[in-house]
Amino acid sequence: MQFYKVLFFALLLKVANSNGIVNEDEMILRFSSEINNWVKTGEESEEFQRLLDNLTLLSSLHRVDWHSYTGETSNAICTVCRSVFDTFIEFRKKGMSANDIKSNVIKLCTRMNIATERVCDGVMTLNLPIILYIVDTKPNLTASTICGVVFESESCPLIDDEFDWTVNIDSGPPKLIDADDSEEIINIIQITDIHYDPNYEPYGNANCDEPTCCRRGQNDTNTNNKVAGYWGDYNYCDSPWHAVVDVLEQIRATHQNISYVYFTGDIVDHGVWETSFKGNIESINKTYSQIYETFRNIPVYPIMGNHEAHPVNLFAPKTVTSNELNTQWLYNLMADLWINFGWLPESTRHTILQGGYYTLSPKKGFRIIALNSNVCYSTNWWLWYQPKDPVGQLQWLADTLLQAEKDGEFVHILAHIPSNNECHAPWKREYLKIVDRYARIITAQFNGHTHNDELLLFFSNDNSTTINNVAWNGGSATAFSNLNPNYKLYIADSKNYAVKDIETWMYNLTLANENAAQRPLWYKSYSFKEEYDIPDLSYDSLHNWLSRLARDDDLLSRYYRNFFKRAEASLKKECDTKCMRAYMCRIITSLGDHRTHCS
Ligand SMILES: *[C@@H]1O[C@H](CO)[C@@H](O)[C@H](O)[C@H]1NC(C)=O
Ligand SMILES: *[C@@H]1O[C@H](CO)[C@@H](O)[C@H](O)[C@H]1NC(C)=O
Ligand SMILES: *[C@@H]1O[C@H](CO)[C@@H](O)[C@H](O)[C@H]1NC(C)=O
Ligand SMILES: *[C@@H]1O[C@H](CO)[C@@H](O)[C@H](O)[C@H]1NC(C)=O
Ligand SMILES: *[C@@H]1O[C@H](CO)[C@@H](O)[C@H](O)[C@H]1NC(C)=O
Ligand SMILES: *[C@@H]1O[C@H](CO)[C@@H](O)[C@H](O)[C@H]1NC(C)=O
Ligand SMILES: *[C@@H]1O[C@H](CO)[C@@H](O)[C@H](O)[C@H]1NC(C)=O
Ligand SMILES: [Zn+2]
Ligand SMILES: [Zn+2]
Repeated sequence: MQFYKVLFFALLLKVANSNGIVNEDEMILRFSSEINNWVKTGEESEEFQRLLDNLTLLSSLHRVDWHSYTGETSNAICTVCRSVFDTFIEFRKKGMSANDIKSNVIKLCTRMNIATERVCDGVMTLNLPIILYIVDTKPNLTASTICGVVFESESCPLIDDEFDWTVNIDSGPPKLIDADDSEEIINIIQITDIHYDPNYEPYGNANCDEPTCCRRGQNDTNTNNKVAGYWGDYNYCDSPWHAVVDVLEQIRATHQNISYVYFTGDIVDHGVWETSFKGNIESINKTYSQIYETFRNIPVYPIMGNHEAHPVNLFAPKTVTSNELNTQWLYNLMADLWINFGWLPESTRHTILQGGYYTLSPKKGFRIIALNSNVCYSTNWWLWYQPKDPVGQLQWLADTLLQAEKDGEFVHILAHIPSNNECHAPWKREYLKIVDRYARIITAQFNGHTHNDELLLFFSNDNSTTINNVAWNGGSATAFSNLNPNYKLYIADSKNYAVKDIETWMYNLTLANENAAQRPLWYKSYSFKEEYDIPDLSYDSLHNWLSRLARDDDLLSRYYRNFFKRAEASLKKECDTKCMRAYMCRIITSLGDHRTHCS
């Protein structure tokens, strides 16, 4: 979810409408100089107040994805980002202490109404030591590079040679392989984005002024009497433990012959301003133990989500040796848990410790490649420090796929963050190049993170009218936010591992909470083939389906409803055909400028 980005830099739409701002550079200078004076004198000049009035974030926009800001508003966000970083990097270079920087940034964050003081304080306390470490050890890092990495937009471009890089990809040609279907199928379950909240309080406060609600201790801010549901809540609330247990139980009791369970990450809650090593470890250990107890001898292939890290999103490169700052604790924990439960062989340990990724072959002719794509997330501050192929993962991916091709294997790739625009541009580009080269053996990809029921269709590089790969998104087991909880069952070919159909299973959270004493009524929401009336899930059929989406409003609105997992809480918002098309355009993935033509 996007809240974090907003928390750090976003500001007001008012800016877009004010004619006072003519020139961006001038604006950065003025704002920087006013922050400077304010920090030095502790007093708010009239100019400072005027700027703040125009730049302050309305609380109603706290949770709006900055991606949805366009034009001048996106300019303005970039202006604030650069002003704030320019100013504080300068202060730091002149010797300001970490504590002084922290208290000033918290004051500014609160004063600009970016979040409550408690949240500003928590977020800065967790993140500043890492940001300062990066700024201190990399003196040539500029505010415009930092903001360019975070926003990567037209108004906030990334212009820095160090931030462009490539990996070595075998030039081919791809080996021709016999990819015929077999008559037999296997069942694969995908569970993703559980977001278990140990602080979840049924009947607590569902509408608080913090990034996530329904948590113990938030009653006092309960102003409009929105009460947290027993099984979860459509507001910004994560999952209570009994809902986590329920979804796992439901899957075990309902589906026979499960060959594999893919768990694609995000166990930890959205309390991003107050995570801790201890809290994350407890949630991770408890959830994986429950998954193990539930499925016992069914193999589970897990990956980590951006929320498993502490602080959230931050995955450090190997060269950072301080245990306070690096990610070794998480890689150690995951390697131990995943291997000790018997899910992964010992041979996976070295790459998990290297960066949270691994590969194995569960069966002859079939390979799973599990990535830690969280390193590419544009809010992973460590990208500023070491942008080039973090933890050596993409080179390893290219090499692993080359070997798989030689060995005649079909491959499934698991990755939490989808290869969309939230992923650092060079990482995304190199990833797409690799997928394109090995498209014949990668028969499916599985993502999580967005919580929506969606997919990515990859257009081939040399023939941009052909689809040559697909990434399915598993949705989310949590209702966060305004969604129904779900999981997916993939029916795959037992020989080439291509997905032949998908069942989305969910429950109506409103109904579940009305009958809180009973377990939720899970039901098959739809089969992809039936719902969209397509003969199979071949790339040709998916291509036809995509063309139909563009023409057929009825089909498009069906896709839109499923995208939000039929939750009234989301569907009650106005969305006309143009608005729905934006959700269709998210499907299109390519190296070229395909998506820009989609609207
Ligand atoms: C900010 O807003 C005030 C009115 O609230 C307006 O007079 C002023 O011109 C705006 N622009 C700047 C850059 O201060
Ligand atoms: C900044 O420093 C890094 C090494 O710390 C170097 O690789 C990079 O090229 C430098 N960037 C610029 C713009 O000088
Ligand atoms: C918050 O509300 C819940 C449910 O009504 C109640 O059980 C709990 O005691 C309340 N907590 C506080 C601190 O008031
Ligand atoms: C499970 O798989 C076995 C062997 O593949 C098959 O005989 C059996 O009918 C399957 N059971 C169900 C319920 O699909
Ligand atoms: C995980 O929890 C179990 C108890 O359920 C405990 O024995 C084990 O030490 C825990 N592991 C970690 C790494 O905390
Ligand atoms: C691209 O693919 C389409 C459909 O598969 C085919 O008709 C066309 O000839 C291809 N073009 C090139 C340049 O390969
Ligand atoms: C969910 O249940 C509520 C309450 O019974 C009902 O109003 C709503 O239409 C249901 N939604 C779906 C998608 O079935
Ligand atoms: Zn998530
Ligand atoms: Zn995520």
